[in-house]
Amino acid sequence: MQPEFWHERWSSHRIGFHRDAPLPLLVKHWPALDLAPTTRVFVPLSGKSLDMVWLAERGHRVLGVELSELAVRQFFDERGLVPDVHTTAAGTHHAAGPYELIVGDAFALHASVLADCAAVYDRAALIALPPDLRHTYAATAWRRLPAACRGLLVTLEYPQPQKNGPPFSVDADEVHARLDTDWRIDEIERRDILADEPGFVAEGVTALSTVVYRVERRS
Ligand SMILES: C[S@@+](CC[C@H](N)C(=O)[O-])C[C@H]1O[C@@H](n2cnc3c(N)ncnc32)[C@H](O)[C@@H]1O
Repeated sequence: MQPEFWHERWSSHRIGFHRDAPLPLLVKHWPALDLAPTTRVFVPLSGKSLDMVWLAERGHRVLGVELSELAVRQFFDERGLVPDVHTTAAGTHHAAGPYELIVGDAFALHASVLADCAAVYDRAALIALPPDLRHTYAATAWRRLPAACRGLLVTLEYPQPQKNGPPFSVDADEVHARLDTDWRIDEIERRDILADEPGFVAEGVTALSTVVYRVERRS
């Protein structure tokens, strides 16, 4: 899946993954992580997610990374914020208030950029990627997060042969296979959401669950 795929999705406004409200599973499970309010949260493949706004309203600072400049501009415009913009090797940083969003490639972020992120939130990021890029993603962005970093990973599971991704099905075995070396992983909720997703039903999908994992980076 090439960057052009995502640029085209943003320029033609085909962003069905974007939600108009924070994810209820984030709201439900984030407090149990018991993070200090000022903790900086890494939000990979951030889009213009309102989950970042919810995190900031909890007092967190947010570091997002997103390929699409359009998405990042829309995020700040929609908040009425005018970001300071500067460029580094990581990409073009847009910063205002609690938010810093880098227009760049999540796989190319150096560990130093992530060093003060004590938390991570992955919704529609791992599952946005085909298997080869999931491998790259786990081996780069996730591996470069600092020790003791903790957070939530939200996935989808469905019979992959019934539909093409994205979003892709990423089951628990794969989550463990990709992340176990570096992360402690606990499944904290598994919910059948097929009835809430008529688009999947229309495509012939017969089973659909969302799964939330609590993750913590090993030392
Ligand atoms: C399915 S969307 C999810 C966005 C967001 N997490 C949400 O919940 O709304 C995936 C996003 O990842 C971005 N993306 C894809 N590959 C990327 C990469 N290598 N680095 C940074 N962003 C990427 C896409 O442009 C797209 O906005």
